[in-house]
Amino acid sequence: MDAPHKKPKVLVTDDDMVQRLIFRTTLEADGYDVLEAENGADALEKLSQEPDIRLLLTDLAMPKMDGYHLIQAVRKDELRYTYIIVLTSMDDRDSLLNALSLGADDYLTKPVFPDELKFRLRGGSRLLKLESQELLIFSMAKLAEYRSEETGFHLERVSHYTRLFARDISKNHPELGLSLSMADEIALVSALHDVGKVAISDNILKKPGRLTPQERQIMETHTTVGGKMLREIYGGTGSLYLWLAYEIAMYHHERWDGKGYPSGLSGEDIPISARVMALSDVYDALINKRCYKDAIPHETAKEMILEERGRHFDPKVVDTFVRLEKECMAVCDRFRNREKSVDLEIKADFP
Ligand SMILES: [Fe+2]
Ligand SMILES: [Fe+2]
Repeated sequence: MDAPHKKPKVLVTDDDMVQRLIFRTTLEADGYDVLEAENGADALEKLSQEPDIRLLLTDLAMPKMDGYHLIQAVRKDELRYTYIIVLTSMDDRDSLLNALSLGADDYLTKPVFPDELKFRLRGGSRLLKLESQELLIFSMAKLAEYRSEETGFHLERVSHYTRLFARDISKNHPELGLSLSMADEIALVSALHDVGKVAISDNILKKPGRLTPQERQIMETHTTVGGKMLREIYGGTGSLYLWLAYEIAMYHHERWDGKGYPSGLSGEDIPISARVMALSDVYDALINKRCYKDAIPHETAKEMILEERGRHFDPKVVDTFVRLEKECMAVCDRFRNREKSVDLEIKADFP
């Protein structure tokens, strides 16, 4: 495989040769690698030949295949996101709206000013960069999971519980300031709660039985390691979901009564995202088997959680859990079946 091209590639699609030449001159001067296509069909062929083209500039009216059909075809590709800017005339709002509704990201009106073109493309590049950062972050979460004591699908299950709880809280407890979109973002980033475990050595992480006080202290640093790292990434991007990821990684072992770690925060001083995470994580740990303990039934786990209402856990989050216990059990069953089928596959491979 070729080494990735250093310059970002942009595909300019226009049936007007002179227009393409103007774009080429402007964009090459700004550090882009420019490719040209005369119409939609030509552009699709170039996109399939060069999968690292992520920026597409296209005219709308063209022979053979127009810009609208090109946008539709590009959006069918679910594996990679291509940032699309369309070229429109000032007086043609209908075609612009049509292009945007089909999935164009941005537009430029003719005649195009070189500086405006550069700025719009930079916006697109930024978005593509954020997308790859997001992918990188989730790969890191998986890496932490492979190394830790969690059983298969822990991250997936926890993401379902956090979504259930957070959505319910956004509806029934508006005073906690958790919106519906935040609820979905919490579910998305819940996978990162133990990302700091990548920094903990295997002999502590995978030790069967109890940890010594000193080992426990080291183990507890997974919160601050993960939290600090995510906060730094948040500082560079300003994305809300990264802030929520930071809160979750940093504070998911805090307790409502202030006896948790790393900061000993109590009550509503603990971010709501982390309060939801704490219960989801503990519930899943209780009802699933780990290297140091056996699984326990849902009813016993529920009793234990109820006993910790107002001690380990936020009472409102515990009440939410009780309200949604059937849904939680359904999530658990679904993944148990998936685990069984994975086990069978492994046994078939290694009889
Ligand atoms: Fe943790
Ligand atoms: Fe966990």
